[in-house]
Amino acid sequence: MCMLPYFPFGDRFNDKMGTAPLGPTEPLLEVDTQYRAEIALKRQLLVAVPGYYAQALPGSELAQWEAAELIMQQMARYYPDSFSFSQQAGQWLWSNRILGEATAIRSHEEGSLPTFPIDWIGQQVQEDLLLLSGQDVRLVAGQLCFGNGWCLDEKLGLPFWEIHAPINPIVTPMMQAAGQLMQRLPAGRTVWRLNWSIKASNQLDMSSRRMPDLNGQLQQLLPALTPETVGDQLFIRIERQTLTRLPRSGSILFGIHTYQNRLADELSERPDAARRLLNVLNTTPPAMLDYKGISPFLEPLIRFLERDGRPKIPMG
Ligand code: HEM
Repeated sequence: MCMLPYFPFGDRFNDKMGTAPLGPTEPLLEVDTQYRAEIALKRQLLVAVPGYYAQALPGSELAQWEAAELIMQQMARYYPDSFSFSQQAGQWLWSNRILGEATAIRSHEEGSLPTFPIDWIGQQVQEDLLLLSGQDVRLVAGQLCFGNGWCLDEKLGLPFWEIHAPINPIVTPMMQAAGQLMQRLPAGRTVWRLNWSIKASNQLDMSSRRMPDLNGQLQQLLPALTPETVGDQLFIRIERQTLTRLPRSGSILFGIHTYQNRLADELSERPDAARRLLNVLNTTPPAMLDYKGISPFLEPLIRFLERDGRPKIPMG
C-alpha cells in the first residue's frame, strides 16, 4: 500500500472542525494509483446490490447535473492527460482515458446517461459523493460505496444535525459549528477537512450492511492483536472531505476520498508517525475511541507505538 497523502495527527486530539479553504491550485477530486481498482470495486458493488450504494430523492436532479458538470470540469482541468471535457450548448463530451471510455451527454436530459447523474459521475471518480440541500441541509442524493459505518438507507432525507445525532456529546459544539458552516458556505468557496480512524481491516466498503461481518472478524482477530502484531494487522484510514456550494441549485456537494495504509508501512515511511499517533490517541476522549471502534485494541496499539516511537539511539 502507499504512504498516506495526509496525516492528520499532531500534538493532541483535535475537537475542532479542522476545516480550511481549498487553495486555488488544490484539486477538488484526487486521482491516485488506486484509481482503476477503486472504480472497478465501485461498479461491482453497484451491480451487486442495486439501490443500496446510490440513491436520489425527487427534486435533486438539478443539483446532480450541476455536481456532475463541476466534477468533469475539475477532473479535466487538474488531470488533463487522463480526462477531457468539452461543452457546446447542452452537448457534453467526456473522455476518460484511464478507462478508455468516451461519453456523449445531452445535459439535463433524463435518460441521457445510463443511470442518474450522481450515480454516473460517482463511477468516474474515487470519491464518495453526497448532495445536501435546503436551509436545514438535508441529504438528498448520493453515491456512497466506501461508507465508514453508515449507508444511504439510514441517512437519506435527514437534515445535517440529525445525520450526526448518534455521535457522542463530546463533539456537539463541533457539530453545531459545522451546521453553521454548511448553512453559510458561499458558492464556489470549497472547504476541506480530514477525518481519521484505525481499523482492523483494509476493506474499503465498510457500509452498514458489512458491519456484522467486520465485527465478527474483529472478535476473531482480537486475541491475536498484540504489540508484536498490531503493526501488520491494523490500518490507518483517512477521509479527505470537501464541501462545495453549487451556485445554481444552492446545494452542497460533499466529497469523501478514503485513503488507507497498513500501520507498520506508514510508520516505516514517516519517522514521526508513531509519536504523533500516540499524542492523539492518548488525548482522545474514551467515548470517541469507543465511537471510532478503536477501544478493543487500544492497549496493544499504544504499547506498540510507545516502543516504535521511542527515540532511536544510534549504535556504536
Ligand atoms: C464540517 C463538516 C463536518 C464535520 C466537522 C463532521 C464531523 C464528523 C465527526 C466528528 C464524526 C464522528 C466520527 C469520527 O470522527 O470518526 C462524523 C461522522 C459522520 N458524518 Fe460528519 N462531519 C461533517 C460533514 C458531514 C456531512 C456533510 C455529512 C453528510 C452526509 C456527514 C456525515 C457523517 C456521517 C454519516 C457520520 C457517521 C454518523 C453515524 O455514526 O451514524 N458529515 N462527522
